[in-house]
Amino acid sequence: MTNPLQNLLDGNRRWSAAMHAENPHFFEQLAKQQSPKYLWIGCSDSRVPATQIVDLPPGEIFVQRNVANVVAHSDLNCLSTIQFAVDVLKVEHIIIVGHYGCGGVQAVLDERRLGLVDNWLRHVGDVAEKHSAVLAGLDPMSLRNARLCELNAIEQATNVCRTTMVMDAWERGQQLSVHAWCYSLDNGRMRDLAMHVDSRSALQPAYEQSLQRLLKMPLTQP
Ligand code: CO
Repeated sequence: MTNPLQNLLDGNRRWSAAMHAENPHFFEQLAKQQSPKYLWIGCSDSRVPATQIVDLPPGEIFVQRNVANVVAHSDLNCLSTIQFAVDVLKVEHIIIVGHYGCGGVQAVLDERRLGLVDNWLRHVGDVAEKHSAVLAGLDPMSLRNARLCELNAIEQATNVCRTTMVMDAWERGQQLSVHAWCYSLDNGRMRDLAMHVDSRSALQPAYEQSLQRLLKMPLTQP
């Protein structure tokens, strides 16, 4: 029987050989340790791979991805990733990366039933309800999707800031910033949502400023 994944295994051999040709010590050095400066919390969407779209090689970004880049306060998977990244790897930046045209966000707007994932997407539904006044005025649906993708990234970034791991890191003076971005599938460009938080006291003003700026911003992708 032929291996249905043979093309992936062949691709891996080619990639490994090319990386080795470029830098014969690349894997040797990377195998010793990882010391990424960034934790990326993004959507599982296959079109938004972390290192590739910011042009970084393996070893530079610690990654957590789930449907619609949600940070839920009871999600042991995401919380453990944040804790390991902050306490052990000592990353300096946590970036929440939403993306325009997110299917999870669209399912919330359409009130579509997809199955178990609907329960997960309730977290995005909560964001939509919180900002219902802003979203209600937006037509067509693609604009509403774009704005909710942005709002969701900002809200999930505040959730990161409120975790005990991040609060404790700030308390002990560890250098750590939390940011929110939104990526465009249409042109591969990232939009910085101007949410930058580097201390407990900076959270509320940064959140309000980011929202104000967002609502003034034209609804076009970067
Ligand atoms: Co998505």
